[in-house]
Amino acid sequence: MKKDMITNVTEYEAIAKEKLPKMVYDFYASGAEDQWTLKENRNAFSRILFQPRILIDVSKIDLTTTVMGFKISMPIMIAPTAMQKMAHPEGELATARAASAAGTIMTLSSTATSSVEEVASTGPGIRFFQLYVLKDRNVVAQVVRRAEKAGFKAITLTVDSPILGRREADIKNRFTLPPNLVLKNFEGLDLGKLNKTSDSFAASYAAELYDRSLNWKDIKWIQTITSLPILLKGVLTPEDTMIAIQAGAAGIIVSNHGARQLDYVPATIMALEEVVKATQGRIPVFLDGGIRRGTDVFKALALGAAGVFIGRPVVFSLAADGEAGVRKVLQMLRDEFELTMALSGCRSLKEITRDHVLTEWDRPR
Ligand code: FNR
Repeated sequence: MKKDMITNVTEYEAIAKEKLPKMVYDFYASGAEDQWTLKENRNAFSRILFQPRILIDVSKIDLTTTVMGFKISMPIMIAPTAMQKMAHPEGELATARAASAAGTIMTLSSTATSSVEEVASTGPGIRFFQLYVLKDRNVVAQVVRRAEKAGFKAITLTVDSPILGRREADIKNRFTLPPNLVLKNFEGLDLGKLNKTSDSFAASYAAELYDRSLNWKDIKWIQTITSLPILLKGVLTPEDTMIAIQAGAAGIIVSNHGARQLDYVPATIMALEEVVKATQGRIPVFLDGGIRRGTDVFKALALGAAGVFIGRPVVFSLAADGEAGVRKVLQMLRDEFELTMALSGCRSLKEITRDHVLTEWDRPR
């Protein structure tokens, strides 16, 4: 497959696989253990069908929406993925430019190979900063303040990773961060001995540095170091949704970390509706995991998501074609989503309702 023949998001993966060193491709592509959830994140979408409405004037379609008070061009945003310079020399900077050009939000990973300041220097754009809470709380406070100062608009706190899931390909490959790259937001931390362990670098990094004691009370602490809204990424149950609201979360991202953490959790699209119900409309709910088509975006919105985030499509397209690749991924998803809206009879996001989809758990009509 040539990159100019690409007609859908999934096709970038084969090009990335060809281009990237096996260790890097495997790191991006893998899920945890049996990778059941990895497959299920995709499969679950195929069990949700459409109930399109006909003979509605769809000559004008509005895809715009507002997220955390910011108007964006479409409800499709970029999830944080670590170490993007392994995919392409411009890494996160290319992703940031592509997101800005598309008029949407990019989330920068804590474990990025570009700093918050470097990403900000690419130009205007609405950006969120993903946070892993390290044991060294001074380092955490510093990076959060740097993100705020650099103009990031929200903190996406990852709550599903007190320790890294078991990704066997990374263990087999003895995954390490290539020596020319640095985790720029936590630069200066002594990582020397981590690179020498026999395990995967990512797993040793998390085991050594992440604060496994992170708990609900720490949300309050994060609120003392920043005035930015805090989104909780990795919520899968209505129970935790209710606690999150009490704890002051400004939003929730239903996520299973791209199936890289606990295997055999449900596909995110299966968990979404119960989480949305539990919020009683008090805070917005977003979803990531397995979004590869505009139809997936529509299904997530029909089940109550306020927007979606994409992970792997960004790193694969970045590997294949840098900024142009990421732009094309965003454009293809946008076009497909707009098409889905038109063919379903929806002219704005508000017009996408639960009745436009049929799930396994709906009663047959
Ligand atoms: C991730 N993800 C992730 N999440 C996070 O909070 N911080 C991070 O640094 C990373 N890094 C990361 C690297 C790679 C290679 C992948 C594939 C994923 C999870 C990510 O934000 C998101 O939840 C999933 O990628 C969404 O699923 P899809 O779109 O990849 O299917």
